[in-house]
Amino acid sequence: MKKNVKPGTYLAPVPAVMVTCGKGETSNIITLAWVGTVNSEPPIVSISVRYQRHSFRLIEQNGEFTVNLVSKDLVRATDVCGVVSGRNTDKFALTGLTACKGEKVACPYIGESPLSLECKVVNRVDFGTHAVFFGEVVNVIADDTFLDEKGRVSLPANLLAAYVNGTYVGTADALGSYGYTSKEERL
Ligand SMILES: Cc1cc2nc3c(=O)[nH]c(=O)nc-3n(C[C@H](O)[C@H](O)[C@H](O)COP(=O)(O)O)c2cc1C
Repeated sequence: MKKNVKPGTYLAPVPAVMVTCGKGETSNIITLAWVGTVNSEPPIVSISVRYQRHSFRLIEQNGEFTVNLVSKDLVRATDVCGVVSGRNTDKFALTGLTACKGEKVACPYIGESPLSLECKVVNRVDFGTHAVFFGEVVNVIADDTFLDEKGRVSLPANLLAAYVNGTYVGTADALGSYGYTSKEERL
């Protein structure tokens, strides 16, 4: 039997990422699960940030952020960055994550992350609880372990962590690749 339930966002699984923001002394890390893919050319991603987050002000002030993808081994640090505020705490020192100098933005990226997307804010939409920042990806920093022979990003299907209804989960083995059904004979 199906039932109507309270309206909510409920989308799952969603990526859990660590977003770096601020610069120099104010550098910070915030864990976000409400992130999205928005546009291909130019590449644009979105992040939804509550107004009361310390990171909200940093992103608002600097107009830049970096989305650091989370591999399974980074889940613990990801949780720490999602329950502690950077207002009074240096989360790089707390987690031991490495702050690497940004290439095209002033905020650092996380050295341990397999892939970091450096973004400049190109738009913002304010909703009731969250501001959505749209960031154009101006540079991508990849661990060369995850590049194929042509230099293209190739992340193993089981590398990353995701978030489902309050629980971190690991992505598992591939179930098929994009368009694999088009190679099948149709009935
Ligand atoms: C798994 C997870 C996902 C989260 N997703 C979001 C999110 O999408 N937007 C948001 O504003 N806060 C989110 N948070 C909460 C912030 O990460 C948390 O409040 C953090 O301490 C804020 O840090 P700051 O005050 O240094 O900015 C999430 C926390 C966790 C653990």
